Amino acid sequence: MMQERAMSAEIYCALDTPDIGQAESLMQRLSGHIDGLKIGMEFFYAHGAVGYQKLAASGVPIFLDLKLHDIPNTVAQAVRALAPLEPRLLNVHGGGGGAMMRAAADAAAQAEDKGFAAPTMLAVTVLTSLAESDLHDMGIKGTPREQVLRLAELARTNGMQGVVCSAHEIDALRAEMGDEFKLIVPGIRPAGSDAHDQKRVMTPEQAQSAGADILVIGRAITEAENCAMAAQAIKTALLAAKETA
Ligand code: C5P
Repeated sequence: MMQERAMSAEIYCALDTPDIGQAESLMQRLSGHIDGLKIGMEFFYAHGAVGYQKLAASGVPIFLDLKLHDIPNTVAQAVRALAPLEPRLLNVHGGGGGAMMRAAADAAAQAEDKGFAAPTMLAVTVLTSLAESDLHDMGIKGTPREQVLRLAELARTNGMQGVVCSAHEIDALRAEMGDEFKLIVPGIRPAGSDAHDQKRVMTPEQAQSAGADILVIGRAITEAENCAMAAQAIKTALLAAKETA
């Protein structure tokens, strides 16, 4: 089922490097051409809050992709500890269960009491690196898609505002979860570009048309000869696709 979103999808660039100099240089070049930046474990564990703040100083919204997963109290404390950084988006593993997600959502909402902007809270459902046989090895019955939908529902029930999902799960999630639930989608490749290690990619326009809110795009931007032009070309294509939809 195709869903039309009011706005064109946003582009968050995945900064998959622990090298702070490279990250800062990329940020400068991409400024004004992307809607946000995704910072993951490799950067955050190497440079911590200080490194994060260096990138955040540009004013670009940040998706802090730390995939928190622990007992509810520990995850809630982690969310509180991260609140002063004011990430626009923050995620936890749905596999941590309903109580863990609820504790994370409540802790995020409390950020405002301390004068910080509360992050939009997302759940990771099933890692796209896991096949059905891997789920079975872990005692999880059914297909990855069924598990994605089950965890997305559990996430929403427990205060999560969206999920990170593969492009091929957008249709089913939009249909099940409605229009307000945020879908953040990696595995995006502009037509004709290298798929690298991604197995089932979608173009930005296809993902937008299926109902994605945010596209997480790494190498198609960061490894381009001119990364600003690459990001801008994707943005222009998304806007054009929206106008002709
Ligand atoms: O370079 P590329 O566009 O493939 O980068 C995609 C980003 O999204 C990387 O940071 C990757 O770790 C992340 N990601 C993904 N697939 C998922 C979840 C996250 O590719 N299912």
